[in-house]
Amino acid sequence: MAQNPGPHKASLVIRADQPKGVINRNIYGQFAEHLGRLIYEGLWVGEGSSIPNTRGIRNDVIAALKELRVPLLRWPGGCFADEYHWRDGIGPRDKRPKRPNASWGGVDTNAFGTHEFMDLAEMLGADAYINGNIGSGTPQEMMEWIEYMTSDSDSTLANLRRQNGREKPWKVPYFAVGNETWGCGGNMRPEYYADLYRQYATFVKEHSGNRIQKLAVGSHDDNYNWTEVLMREAARHMDGLSLHYYTLPTSDWARKGSATEFGEKEWHATLVRTLRIDEFISKHSAIMDKYDPQKRVGLMVDEWGTWYDAEPGRDMGALYQQNTMRDAVVAGVNLNIFHKHADRVRMTNIAQMVNVLQAMILTDKGRMVMTPTYHVFRMYRAHQGATLIPTELSAPEYKLEQASVPSLSASASRDKDGRLHLSVVNLDPNRPAEVTATVAGSTVRGVTGEVLTAPAMNAMNTFDRPDTVKPAPFGGHKLQDNKLTLTVPPKSVVVLELQ
Ligand code: AHR
Repeated sequence: MAQNPGPHKASLVIRADQPKGVINRNIYGQFAEHLGRLIYEGLWVGEGSSIPNTRGIRNDVIAALKELRVPLLRWPGGCFADEYHWRDGIGPRDKRPKRPNASWGGVDTNAFGTHEFMDLAEMLGADAYINGNIGSGTPQEMMEWIEYMTSDSDSTLANLRRQNGREKPWKVPYFAVGNETWGCGGNMRPEYYADLYRQYATFVKEHSGNRIQKLAVGSHDDNYNWTEVLMREAARHMDGLSLHYYTLPTSDWARKGSATEFGEKEWHATLVRTLRIDEFISKHSAIMDKYDPQKRVGLMVDEWGTWYDAEPGRDMGALYQQNTMRDAVVAGVNLNIFHKHADRVRMTNIAQMVNVLQAMILTDKGRMVMTPTYHVFRMYRAHQGATLIPTELSAPEYKLEQASVPSLSASASRDKDGRLHLSVVNLDPNRPAEVTATVAGSTVRGVTGEVLTAPAMNAMNTFDRPDTVKPAPFGGHKLQDNKLTLTVPPKSVVVLELQ
């Protein structure tokens, strides 16, 4: 009989005496592309729908998302951004043209356009992050879209917006000049895009006091040459440079692996791959440091998350996937890594909000379910905009075959009301961890918090069983003389307030 190896023993020092910079709340940003059933059905059902809605946007999804305090929302793509022409999506809906969605399939009715997106962002209380079209659009089209949205003047375009129902201009604090221009956004070389970026960015104009942070298309994975060229040629024209990284259980785009049918081998391989983002961020940041030692330009990880094979029988282009306890652990680990790099990483956008890739929410017509990833984002809200508190974690490795990952990941922060929060993720699906924690520079008198775990690695929430994976109060702590011992269950995400 196999011996029970018992808990991993780990130690953690929370350096409350050495606070660092701020964890930008935009690290908790989201992404909504015209893709599959994200916009149409997931968010927009139309005013005449039997699904309860406010001006066409479904009430159940909005209510759930509001709980996450979504700080900003990126739209309309993704690859779709470089085929989107904003004039198609304004004016009376029955007059809007229907266009093929060349990136993802089907026909877009354009029922959801600028006004509907801005309405959604306002309902959520989220900042608008608009992704402009460089691949098939002109600088003039980009310039005029910004004027339409943000000008309070008596110009023809500002008046067209008023005529279409919006008197006051909107705020557009973030605007990206293209998307993945090394791929679906135009298959460009970095030198060519750097020049084009400089040209287009010149026409991203500010109107009526609307301050815009201009974002350039950055690299993916370990394409460091792209970052080098963009920073060398265009850093002074940008406020942010993006980075995209998707976690696949395999590294093979043709056979990514199943979202739900997997064993420990795939669990472990997924964690090995997701942790690589730490190295990618460090190395892209080091290149950025060379050209921008003051760290003025943010590294915006505006697409990240898991990407699995489509379920058999489902539309491959819709990128719909289920979400399990594995995704929750991936989310927790990535958020902890983003915190650590908060000095350079100012924004991230998980891909994507509803029904696409590592979604917060899944819908089936009128039904809705919150995913394990949703719960992690809700539990981690406490870190938004808080001050990063460094952590020193010493934990054994979780090994499988020849590969190994740390068994634990941790992050801490202090919010503006002085409350100290700690998030701990146990990556090992079999062994609990016993963590001895001390807080330097602070006394802990009590602990409250939540744990997200489940009996199976592939536990998920379905429309029939929506609460299989949900947070529960955390009871695994002992506190004696400012020394805290935490018992963190296998495959779990824990967020605590240390009082
Ligand atoms: O998120 C899905 C797609 O992944 C986006 O449209 C694109 O930018 C990326 O390749």
